[in-house]
Amino acid sequence: MLYKIAALLFVFQSVLAQYPSYVGPKLKKHSNTVSRKGEVLQFEDEFDTLDLSLWKHEITMGGGGNWEFEWYTNNRTNSFVRDSVLYLKPTMTSDTIGEQQMTGVIPYTMDIYGSQPGDLCTSEAWYGCFRTSNTANILNPVQSARLRTADTLFFTYGRLEVNAKLPKGDWIWPAIWMLPQYQDFGSWPVSGEIDIMESRGNSPSCAAGGYNSVSSTLHWGPFYGQDKYTLTTETYTMSSSDFASDFHTFGLYWNSDKLYTYIDDDSNRVLEVTFDETFWTRGGWDSSVLNDPWVGESAMSAPFNKPFYIVFDLAVGGVSGFFPDGECSKPWADTSSIAYLQFWQGKGQWYPTWSGDDVALQIDSVKLWSFE
Ligand SMILES: *[C@@H]1O[C@H](CO)[C@@H](O)[C@H](O)[C@H]1NC(C)=O
Repeated sequence: MLYKIAALLFVFQSVLAQYPSYVGPKLKKHSNTVSRKGEVLQFEDEFDTLDLSLWKHEITMGGGGNWEFEWYTNNRTNSFVRDSVLYLKPTMTSDTIGEQQMTGVIPYTMDIYGSQPGDLCTSEAWYGCFRTSNTANILNPVQSARLRTADTLFFTYGRLEVNAKLPKGDWIWPAIWMLPQYQDFGSWPVSGEIDIMESRGNSPSCAAGGYNSVSSTLHWGPFYGQDKYTLTTETYTMSSSDFASDFHTFGLYWNSDKLYTYIDDDSNRVLEVTFDETFWTRGGWDSSVLNDPWVGESAMSAPFNKPFYIVFDLAVGGVSGFFPDGECSKPWADTSSIAYLQFWQGKGQWYPTWSGDDVALQIDSVKLWSFE
């Protein structure tokens, strides 16, 4: 009897320990979206309006941990809806504060701490809320947007489809990706990162890849220097067309057995990862030296067995190596302490490739299904 009660308690507790598979608004809009067998449409946004109760702006100059050149604002110049399409559009910081202020000829302090709930700086990391320009350390030259559904919509397992048109313009770095809601196993990259689509706005002739090329990546590892993403990344290149001329669907299928990304059609796969071994085994780390942060998880998908939220992002440049030194006439060096300034000094080269709304990441719809 005691044994039975204990067993019952155990079952009860393990049910309680699960997060719900989907947290977010009830279906916003029901168009004629078709669901596949065994899948239930949970959420859909066709961007008739920009719902700021769901899509939260990041507001920071921190540069995403890569000293990227943009800062993120809540400004309708950089994120807006037009004709039922969401635009994330980069503009010049000099248009807002003046070029001499941005370049430190006239030192300028950018204080974006904010005071109203919708204005508050969202990350102080890497001097994200407060910077002062000088002629060596210029302020982030590009103003852009990054929206996320942290706290408002997150899910574990499901199918996500984002219909989008990618930006054109040298050094623009658009991304559709996901981050862990609760960091169940610890800080980046221990709890994982799912990059559904990353691309470069450079010309298709650029060796590192341009807007005819996209990649999907999982980031994971026991600590910062041990992110084994190179084992889980794939690139897809279009030979006769590109992703900036038309809208394409960027899809993610994710359950406890496997995860894959695809373009337009489920069969047109980019990255496929089968969860047939733990990520600890996959990474090949030595258990006598390091601790397995995912120990005790019965799912082989861990850390990809927890809720993740959606991020739409338009970044520019950065010193992470995403834009390799010496390729495509890159005007800055990743090791330089004045990378921002070098980028700005190279403006005569890259700015002519930025044209109108072609520089924007344009998102037509987002659809999310859960499994029955
Ligand atoms: C929003 O961006 C525009 C264009 O750069 C700028 O003129 C405006 O001052 C910005 N608004 C705020 C509140 O910073």
